[in-house]
Amino acid sequence: MLTVQSLFTEYRAPNGASVKAAQDVTFSVPEGKFFTLLGPSGCGKTTTLRSIAGLERPTSGEISVSEQVVYSSQKNIFLPPNLRNFGMVFQSYAIWPHMNVFHNVSFPLEVKRAKPSQHVIKEKVMSVLEAVGLDHLAEREATKLSGGQQQRLALARALVMEPRLLLLDEPLSNLDAKLREKMRFELKRMQSKFGLTTIYVTHDQSEALALSHEIAVMSEGRIVQIGSPRDIYERPKTKFVADFIGTTNFIEGVIIDQDRIHNLLSVQTPLGVLSVLSERDFNIGAKISLSIRPEDIYLSEEPLPSGVQNTLTGITEQSVFLGEYMDLKIRFGDYEMLARSHPTLRINNGDRIHVRLDAAKCVALSDSN
Ligand SMILES: Nc1ncnc2c1ncn2[C@@H]1O[C@H](COP(=O)(O)OP(=O)(O)O)[C@@H](O)[C@H]1O
Ligand SMILES: [Mg+2]
Repeated sequence: MLTVQSLFTEYRAPNGASVKAAQDVTFSVPEGKFFTLLGPSGCGKTTTLRSIAGLERPTSGEISVSEQVVYSSQKNIFLPPNLRNFGMVFQSYAIWPHMNVFHNVSFPLEVKRAKPSQHVIKEKVMSVLEAVGLDHLAEREATKLSGGQQQRLALARALVMEPRLLLLDEPLSNLDAKLREKMRFELKRMQSKFGLTTIYVTHDQSEALALSHEIAVMSEGRIVQIGSPRDIYERPKTKFVADFIGTTNFIEGVIIDQDRIHNLLSVQTPLGVLSVLSERDFNIGAKISLSIRPEDIYLSEEPLPSGVQNTLTGITEQSVFLGEYMDLKIRFGDYEMLARSHPTLRINNGDRIHVRLDAAKCVALSDSN
């Protein structure tokens, strides 16, 4: 539906230097899917979104929507934003303070060149207000809405134009934590209800994991990995991605053997030799990092049977009871590992603890990217 091909967008800094904000950005989004650009502040997410919207003029590349080219450096095409028919909601969802809820939503229709009849406008406005749960507040002044309601109003205003593409730039970031979580579910529900192709921008990894069909992780203007939330979380391709998406433990190591039949690597690490399942090819002697999520570490109060792969014994340095689970810091000599366990584990600080690392849960990442 949306295709972005080799997009470069640069800015001129005040001192004249060029800021390479989007670098060779390429992705495509099928009809009706929720696609997220995720990355730390300054990595080029907003630039990419604004380039899609036509609010920035890229340096080069091509953007097309449902077979229509809206930007192409090669074909010299640049469709202005108002002709692209995209809906947009930004971080600062500017509602019009001097209008009530109804008029905030009807206004974009009133100023349309082919303005619908008053009857049709009323019908359309009330239908989107109902969808976002604001129909009972249609007469209220927009400034007298809560943060969450204002956010939904901004969304209603984007939806009323029946956009072919919805662009959302950190729309939840001004809300408090609890409301943000609630709105997350709301957004997801509305997106699937309308079947709207959505491009979402956020620096919040849990938001991205919860909402998206697909995520593109960005760093320094470039997309470093594209995949489903599960892919990105369980099979990060680089240390940057593993680190950015959730909490993880890194263990440095060197490949000492590779069994290509069973896709097993033997990795020499400060914790001893570990077996790691990996479909990627490495050279013997290559330096790598292993990434292991805290929740993937198997813990036992009792010693594990001898002969079991990847077993270690450490000392519990700290344990924090968090209701549904416990977070532990486990020390192995100089190395400290974070683990998460079921709260039934009975362990005290200073106790010995037995650990097993599943070969399939250790992700081998080459150090050279
Ligand atoms: N109008 C602008 N002029 C100059 N530099 C800009 C402008 N907008 C953004 N930048 C720079 O481009 C880079 C990417 O910014 P942005 O796309 O806003 O990142 P993100 O949305 O991921 O935080 C940053 O280094 C930022 O400082
Ligand atoms: Mg931004």
